[in-house]
Amino acid sequence: MPLVNLLGSKRRLVLSALLICAVIFELDAQEQRTTPERKPKPSKPKLGKSTNKGPRAVTAKPKIKATPAAPAQTFLTQVLNKGKFKKVGETISVQTGDTLELRCRGKPVQWSIPSYLEEDDDGRLRIVQHERYSVLTLVNTTGADTGEYTCYPMYCEDTDCRKEYDKAVKVFVFFRDPQELFVPSSDYYEVIQLRTNWPTVLPCQVTSPEAKVTLHREFPPVEVAVDGTEISFNVKKGFTIHRPRPYHAGALYCVASLGNLRQSSTKYMLIYVNYPMAPPAPVIQASSSSVTVGENLRVSCSVVGEQDVVVEFTWDYPGQQIGRPLYTQESISPVGGGTVRQQSQSVLLVEEVRDVDQGTYTCTAQNLQGATSASTTVKVVPKAKPKKP
Ligand SMILES: *[C@@H]1O[C@H](CO)[C@@H](O)[C@H](O)[C@H]1NC(C)=O
Repeated sequence: MPLVNLLGSKRRLVLSALLICAVIFELDAQEQRTTPERKPKPSKPKLGKSTNKGPRAVTAKPKIKATPAAPAQTFLTQVLNKGKFKKVGETISVQTGDTLELRCRGKPVQWSIPSYLEEDDDGRLRIVQHERYSVLTLVNTTGADTGEYTCYPMYCEDTDCRKEYDKAVKVFVFFRDPQELFVPSSDYYEVIQLRTNWPTVLPCQVTSPEAKVTLHREFPPVEVAVDGTEISFNVKKGFTIHRPRPYHAGALYCVASLGNLRQSSTKYMLIYVNYPMAPPAPVIQASSSSVTVGENLRVSCSVVGEQDVVVEFTWDYPGQQIGRPLYTQESISPVGGGTVRQQSQSVLLVEEVRDVDQGTYTCTAQNLQGATSASTTVKVVPKAKPKKP
């Protein structure tokens, strides 16, 4: 049985250095044969980096065919000291210092690992693609390695490969650290924007799934109620504030307790931002679509939107090319009605209209979600000749 052999040899190597309860998971990314619609050319898998075999030839194919269709589920196997297996679920706990070994079926596959590891792997991580599976090995683990490990089977046509996202298999791995209940952070505090009605996550990630985690406000020092609706907790993610409101702002932190240990997380400085639901929808209107030379023209641009959402206006107008200076007046006024809304307006003033002022006036309104323009055209007509007596 190949799995057992693999374990046997690998373990002896690693065991010499450390007390290890090697943990091996098999992520069963379905064999590609289960997607008939995407398999026009099964004969040329050139990307496989298997070391001792050439491009998979005829020999491999019958084997795969012989395998009964694998169920589209992930199964994880934990291997204990003497090659004993134990099935585990979608999360797993590993003692820090131990080796994590993940095995994912597929050829080739790509892994996605916690971003901290990706940036700063310091030689502890090894990924080896074998003939029919890939093995990810992480040694000398620490609490900081806690996170999601995902295997993506790749679909290849010649040398052109892409991830098969729908077949990704993932496992969340906790690395229990007897000293650190939270995944360490390099920052003393973290600034987080709370946007109106946009879910916000306080990523206080614990290293042990059993840790009891609570949320606290610094001033006044109180525990924040976590009701599962307004604020919820997920052991793989931290706290989520689902619909931020201004009163959620302030300095917050998480506290984790496990056994005799009680620790605080990094501090989160939550800053509330009035965040619009959508880009503005400006309405433009000229005081008249036809103005006589010498008269004054006003072009107004207005946006009705959520209260306290800042809208910025910019203008494009015909006299711009010759550097004609124009003036704008901006104002904000509340709008009546059920919900709290406001009208932001910019008025472009064109004094003593000249011929060059004829043309298209465009107003662009911008908020944090985007910018939208609106235009109108204005005709300039010559002054009526004074009648001769
Ligand atoms: C793992 O830790 C051992 C013992 O401290 C050390 O000798 C070894 O070099 C480490 N391995 C890696 C890949 O960091």
